[in-house]
Amino acid sequence: MFSFKSALGLVALLPLAQLAAAQSPVWGQCGGIGWSGATSCVSGTACVKLNDYYSQCQPGAAPPPTTTVPVTTPPATTPPSTSTGSAPTGLASIPASKLTQISNFGPNPNNVQMFVYKPAKVASKPALIVASHFCTGTAQQYFSGSKFAQLSETYGYVVLFPSSPHSGTCWDVSSDATLKHDGGGDSQGIASAARFAISNWGVDPARVFAVGTSSGAMMTSVLAGAYPDVFKAGIVDSGVAFGCFAVPGQPADSWNSQCAQGQLILTGQQWAQRVFDAYPGFTGARPKMQVWHGTADTTLYPQNFYEEVKQWTTVFGYPSTPISNASEPYLPGGYSNATFGPNFQAILAQGVGHTVPLFEQQYLQFFGIA
Ligand SMILES: *[C@@H]1O[C@H](CO)[C@@H](O)[C@H](O)[C@H]1NC(C)=O
Ligand SMILES: *[C@@H]1O[C@H](CO)[C@@H](O)[C@H](O)[C@H]1NC(C)=O
Repeated sequence: MFSFKSALGLVALLPLAQLAAAQSPVWGQCGGIGWSGATSCVSGTACVKLNDYYSQCQPGAAPPPTTTVPVTTPPATTPPSTSTGSAPTGLASIPASKLTQISNFGPNPNNVQMFVYKPAKVASKPALIVASHFCTGTAQQYFSGSKFAQLSETYGYVVLFPSSPHSGTCWDVSSDATLKHDGGGDSQGIASAARFAISNWGVDPARVFAVGTSSGAMMTSVLAGAYPDVFKAGIVDSGVAFGCFAVPGQPADSWNSQCAQGQLILTGQQWAQRVFDAYPGFTGARPKMQVWHGTADTTLYPQNFYEEVKQWTTVFGYPSTPISNASEPYLPGGYSNATFGPNFQAILAQGVGHTVPLFEQQYLQFFGIA
């Protein structure tokens, strides 16, 4: 094990290594906001812009006019966030269409910061999405770098954007506390805010969902495993299995390089047991899960995808081989969607590194919102 700081150092070096590899392979990423790897493609392929966040090397494509995508986050169209000082009772007191900080929303031992985005028109009994950022990120960055808030204006759900209290802003996905139902840690602070939203904002308890990228993806697994009573579905973008980052007795946001490098190999039963031990005695339905991972991920190695598959198929009692595994017309080539049952899908993105770009509209379908 080493500290998250050295881990961050390692992560920071990766883009340089990718730059050195001058050309992306077929189906590899070649541009997009936040992308610092190769921007040209191997011969016979061309870099095609799919969205602001993702350009891909596609075979035989005519070279498109070069679209230079800024690698930094575009100037924030975000109004400055407002702190209300305390969690207002009732959604009416929260300003619309503005990222707003709340506090005093219940047990929050690590002082996770919490921000809410309420659209102009809230659906009756709205759904809630908890969207968790990556290491070095913030609630504000995930808010402006994703479409979760923007799409809430169409679909009327409410979004919570938690912000990590730890230096380096990785999430606590390793402590005993965070991996236990109501055991403390970052996960309890986030679960408290979701419970607060149900009790005070009229959020539909049957439609409380979690999504996150990288460290936020790991947090999503933690929330799904330790708070199955609160969360009804989770989408894990480039994360790890529940409990894979466990580092008992170490600081809350410890890095687990064994897990990150895909060297923690357990059986499905052992992985499922970590989930069951998080909340012994829980007999309700487990949140349905969707996991996404890139085969060229060198931060959280792709083996983590297969460990997640073992874990969730065992939790749901599904066979270990998918019912179907196919490409999807709306996804880039090289993406495969393996369905194991109604509650678990695993999407593998060929040639994609850390992290798989977000597909928010599809996530909303999985959540049953869109
Ligand atoms: C789905 O198919 C792809 C490509 O054929 C393969 O790489 C991937 O491992 C399969 N997914 C699962 C979960 O078995
Ligand atoms: C994967 O396939 C299943 C079954 O066809 C479908 O319901 C689901 O929406 C697909 N998932 C994605 C991410 O496209």
